[in-house]
Amino acid sequence: MASNCSLLNPIHENLIIGELLMLFDDLRINKARLQNTLEESARIGKTDKNGLIRCAVTDEDKIGRDLLVKWYKECGCEVIIDEMGNIFAKRPGKNPSLGAVLSGSHFDTQKPGGRFDGILGVLGALEVMRTINENGIELERDFIIVDWTNEEGGWFAPACMGSGVWAGNHTKEWAYARKDRDGYAVFGEELERIGYKGSFPASHKEWNIYAAYELHIEQGPQLWKENIQIGAPKGILCLHWYDIWLEGTANQVGPTPMAGRNDALLAFSEMNIVVNNVAHQMGNMVGTVGEIQNYPNSRNIIPDKVHFTVDVRSWDDDHALKAWEMMKKEFEIIAERRGCILRTEETWKVAHAPFDRELYNRVVEISEQLNYSCKRMVSGAGHDMSEINQVTRGAMIFVPSVEGRSHVEVEETPYEDCERGTNVLLHCILKTANEV
Ligand code: GLV
Ligand code: MN
Ligand code: MN
Repeated sequence: MASNCSLLNPIHENLIIGELLMLFDDLRINKARLQNTLEESARIGKTDKNGLIRCAVTDEDKIGRDLLVKWYKECGCEVIIDEMGNIFAKRPGKNPSLGAVLSGSHFDTQKPGGRFDGILGVLGALEVMRTINENGIELERDFIIVDWTNEEGGWFAPACMGSGVWAGNHTKEWAYARKDRDGYAVFGEELERIGYKGSFPASHKEWNIYAAYELHIEQGPQLWKENIQIGAPKGILCLHWYDIWLEGTANQVGPTPMAGRNDALLAFSEMNIVVNNVAHQMGNMVGTVGEIQNYPNSRNIIPDKVHFTVDVRSWDDDHALKAWEMMKKEFEIIAERRGCILRTEETWKVAHAPFDRELYNRVVEISEQLNYSCKRMVSGAGHDMSEINQVTRGAMIFVPSVEGRSHVEVEETPYEDCERGTNVLLHCILKTANEV
């Protein structure tokens, strides 16, 4: 540890914890430093339209990780890299046996994605660490920043891969064997290639975590539309991912009559409509086809193979499952009628994540103390917290997304909002890491 991390500032020495917390009421993060850090991150994998392409286990991901590790070491942290490449930066507290407070998110992006999704959660936690350090504050508990591997799952499915293994929902061997969207690269080999297949066991059982916070952009329109500064989600919708393969018969488009074709793409087109219709009919859920591969993808060959994905989300897990069952039944009828073979696979299923009541309320209370407007809400986007919340107490802090846009290059959150969210995180950490 650097000396300013481990020493209590002499003026704090005779104060009891309650008095210390009052003393820190006025403490705020450094907005300019947070902005600089976000801007430095936004250069790694930058696209022409000011977005980012920094998919997990790529060369850009490695550059981003190297920078994070450098920053963590400058803070005097112990850096631990586990078998899934999850990076932990630990700042010891006075009493490590009490259990640590964990905060972070992910540094990988969609292809292409924006500059804030996940990144704000990691760099916000880093800014909190820097603020605590420079004020010579000693915490009762360890404070740990985490960067989870492959949260996005857009290139190597599923999402939340690093946190999912850590939470015990997949084996690391299963994750290592996952192939990329093109079916070529193997996840474990790529993780090793970029030098981030660590040796520390990727399991929550190796850690004593007391509470976890994740700062994130909302990725939806509510805060932006209502002009509210902070969102306090009570939890995250369930996320169910399915992969579907269709096999028909390829043929020359000219001489083959319209009647009797086994056109896999046509069958898919009907199935896409089914997903949309079922989601509308059921209500209280969303259903999306986001990825499709069509083969041989030639304008004058009837397509014989299609692969596509279905993403189903709801607060009610049974409701989401019922919707999928309805979709699947319709798919079977369509496949039969179109003379196609249908195969479906459940790729990922994470239950809806209700957050810890006390931590969730704390986000609201601290926002109010800081005079920020705050809204209780639900997260439609998936987060590592969906997994983490299953093995520890968790909560999230949201800040607005301009026009509700995310997973796009124009994703934007004003730095003032990033600052406010990071101040809420700072005070959540100060309070929670001093609870004994
Ligand atoms: C995570 O990025 C999600 O799919 O919501
Ligand atoms: Mn994210
Ligand atoms: Mn995302």
